[in-house]
Amino acid sequence: MGKIISLNKVALVGPMGAGKSTIGRLLANCLSLPFHDSDHVIEEKSGADIPWIFDVEGEEGFRDRETAVLESLLEEQKVVIATGGGIVLREKNRQLLQQADAVVYLKADTERLVQRTIKDKKRPLLQVDDPRQKILELLAQRDPLYCEVATHTVNTDSRSPKVIAQQIAATLTSL
Ligand code: S3P
Repeated sequence: MGKIISLNKVALVGPMGAGKSTIGRLLANCLSLPFHDSDHVIEEKSGADIPWIFDVEGEEGFRDRETAVLESLLEEQKVVIATGGGIVLREKNRQLLQQADAVVYLKADTERLVQRTIKDKKRPLLQVDDPRQKILELLAQRDPLYCEVATHTVNTDSRSPKVIAQQIAATLTSL
């Protein structure tokens, strides 16, 4: 009898505005797995929102919380995790992500990412004079890291989140 491959842990990575939370929730639904958004779990556990954490504890404080949450979410038996855009920065997180059965890199056109995030007040890294330039810098720095951890890469530009989630589910379950 052939080996039964089960798909129990899936992580979504990619830049701010790529649709990780929306697509992650829909994907979890398609796969009948529980869904968690790491940023939401950080906020729940700390009782504070992300801008407050960045303000009071700095980016490093936020990253420490992010690593702890990633570690605990990956201990779940079954889970789809939407990660924050900076999850790939730490080597430890990149190693932790290897525990997932699949890591999907959600890519989007740069201009689309800029449009979706430029006016956002809840993303501390984009509260700068030139958020567009910042988005470009973050992409240049992080794209190789997303590629390093990803088992699959999906472009999100021309289809609806629902269709993308269904296609990811179909690809992952036909492995
Ligand atoms: C960050 C992305 C955010 C959040 C935090 C830092 C980043 O998550 O974790 O503001 O470094 O790119 P989203 O990618 O869900 O916006």
